[in-house]
Amino acid sequence: MTCGIVSISYPFYLSSETKDLNGYNNSYCGYPGMAIECDDDKPMLQLDGHKYMVKNISYGNDSYGNVSLADPVVLEDTSSCPKVDHNVTILLPSWLYFPAMSVDFLVFFLDCSFTPPMEPPDIYQYQLTCGSLGARLSFVLPKDKVPDYNRYYGNLSQVCSKIIEVPVLSYTDNSSEDSAWRSDEYGRVLRQGFQLAWNESRRLANCTQCEQSYGRCGYNQEGEFIGCLCPDGRVHSRNCSDSGDSSLKRKH
Ligand SMILES: *[C@@H]1O[C@H](CO)[C@@H](O)[C@H](O)[C@H]1NC(C)=O
Ligand SMILES: *[C@@H]1O[C@H](CO)[C@@H](O)[C@H](O)[C@H]1NC(C)=O
Ligand SMILES: *[C@@H]1O[C@H](CO)[C@@H](O)[C@H](O)[C@H]1NC(C)=O
Ligand SMILES: *[C@@H]1O[C@H](CO)[C@@H](O)[C@H](O)[C@H]1NC(C)=O
Ligand SMILES: *[C@@H]1O[C@H](CO)[C@@H](O)[C@H](O)[C@H]1NC(C)=O
Ligand SMILES: *[C@@H]1O[C@H](CO)[C@@H](O)[C@H](O)[C@H]1NC(C)=O
Ligand SMILES: *[C@@H]1O[C@H](CO)[C@@H](O)[C@H](O)[C@H]1NC(C)=O
Ligand SMILES: *[C@@H]1O[C@H](CO)[C@@H](O)[C@H](O)[C@H]1NC(C)=O
Ligand SMILES: *[C@@H]1O[C@H](CO)[C@@H](O)[C@H](O)[C@H]1NC(C)=O
Repeated sequence: MTCGIVSISYPFYLSSETKDLNGYNNSYCGYPGMAIECDDDKPMLQLDGHKYMVKNISYGNDSYGNVSLADPVVLEDTSSCPKVDHNVTILLPSWLYFPAMSVDFLVFFLDCSFTPPMEPPDIYQYQLTCGSLGARLSFVLPKDKVPDYNRYYGNLSQVCSKIIEVPVLSYTDNSSEDSAWRSDEYGRVLRQGFQLAWNESRRLANCTQCEQSYGRCGYNQEGEFIGCLCPDGRVHSRNCSDSGDSSLKRKH
């Protein structure tokens, strides 16, 4: 199944493809947090109330893989300084996580005012010089630089009115580290998007058993495992070879 140019398959599922399963309405065949809404051929994934454009999904040969996302508001904003107004967080239950290997975070300190003795001279290298992200001064720091600033120059979170954390593709392996995300360059970096990954670490024992018997896991809206959808077209309670409750027929 595809949406636009992105192929959507288990453990992702289309949000329009839910059904009544074992008495639970809106159940789905896929992992919690991995619903894709196909909106006018644009695949969108929702994380904590905000929708993100799915640029690509890379499926591993087992139950792992990764997905590239970008904020559609940032993609549409062709200026070099797109608006950044919400944290990117994953609402649980979800099987997705930020892979430390390929994702770093930028922290935007918006609308800050320093009292003279507190003013850290070095902070201006991180100052945003474009856009209207706040009435007063705004800065963007790589997340790993923030503790140093707090230690040596005072607590940034106390002098700024808003703090936003956004994931970006890892910049540590890029020699242009120093300029890529700073000031008016950050729009380009945000438009590249970020990655999320999934693996078996959040899979319930029930789901493992189901998948090992070539079934696919069914979950209800609360993210609870409710059945194993098997190649024989039936819903088994545990796995595809159990003799248990296999009477519940399912359309293929
Ligand atoms: C789904 O089931 C719940 C209770 O089990 C009910 O409150 C809700 O209205 C149902 N939703 C739909 C769309 O049928
Ligand atoms: C999607 O990801 C796969 C695997 O990483 C890669 O081969 C492919 O070129 C990517 N497609 C796009 C459109 O980026
Ligand atoms: C995940 O992303 C990385 C690049 O960050 C890529 O090399 C890898 O092939 C992707 N796919 C899987 C299944 O891990
Ligand atoms: C900075 O201030 C916040 C809010 O007052 C506080 O929670 C945090 O612990 C402080 N951090 C440091 C490093 O002082
Ligand atoms: C974003 O996350 C940071 C760190 O958890 C938090 O301090 C900040 O208040 C959050 N910002 C918003 C707008 O929720
Ligand atoms: C590294 O930086 C260069 C120049 O800024 C950019 O063209 C390239 O896409 C970056 N590579 C990665 C992996 O982000
Ligand atoms: C699986 O995901 C967890 C986070 O949920 C991560 O800590 C762990 O390193 C991952 N394992 C592998 C083999 O990638
Ligand atoms: C696994 O399934 C069994 C039978 O349906 C149920 O009793 C048990 O609570 C489930 N375990 C988990 C971790 O969901
Ligand atoms: C499937 O379920 C049956 C009955 O609970 C059990 O005996 C069997 O070991 C399970 N098979 C797998 C692959 O987990």
